[in-house]
Amino acid sequence: MIIAVDGPTASGKGTISKKLAAHFGLAHLDTGLLYRAVGRQTWLNGGDPDHPDDALRAVSFPGELLDDPILRDEATGGLASRASVHPAVRDALFERQRAFAMQSGGAVLDGRDIGTVIAPDADVKLFITASVAARARRRFAEMQGKGMPITLAEIAADLERRDARDTGRKDAPLLAAPDAVTIDTSEMDIDTAFAAALDVVTTATK
Ligand code: C5P
Repeated sequence: MIIAVDGPTASGKGTISKKLAAHFGLAHLDTGLLYRAVGRQTWLNGGDPDHPDDALRAVSFPGELLDDPILRDEATGGLASRASVHPAVRDALFERQRAFAMQSGGAVLDGRDIGTVIAPDADVKLFITASVAARARRRFAEMQGKGMPITLAEIAADLERRDARDTGRKDAPLLAAPDAVTIDTSEMDIDTAFAAALDVVTTATK
């Protein structure tokens, strides 16, 4: 079984995907982490993520980079969003994601274009979304927990900037596949959101 989970940052898609993978015993890939590694490696190389050649060179990042906690930073998210605009970068990461999706035991992948580009043949497609205000509040609570000096308004502005870039790009924009089921988690806690997602998967695969 392949489960495709797409949606914007801080919508809850990552947590839902992890929980679905654990529930069904499937492998899980957070594809955002690959783009984050490319963004980070571009920066480490002294390159510019807006420049296609610089971003493409960073696709050969070392595997250990995926374990670096710095990839989770907002700054790295911004670099990833810029590097992921380039079609050559997306093409270079395609096979790795496709192979993961096709593994024999089945998989859950989360990202922006899983249901549309990476696994259009997925058994179930979820589009997890939430209002900017709800997503900003979640990020803010997370960052306060880490003692990071950033305001709610700054986080909301950053989310809007990233949404606009992810939604507006020509190649593989953030978009619900026509056959995806949308879950708006704005008013849900994570247990409720997971229950809703599980219900969709169970019904679709009955
Ligand atoms: O999901 P996450 O916030 O970790 O993703 C970081 C950035 O990587 C996103 O803003 C998006 O631009 C890009 N991305 C993408 N396609 C994916 C996953 C992430 O373009 N499948």
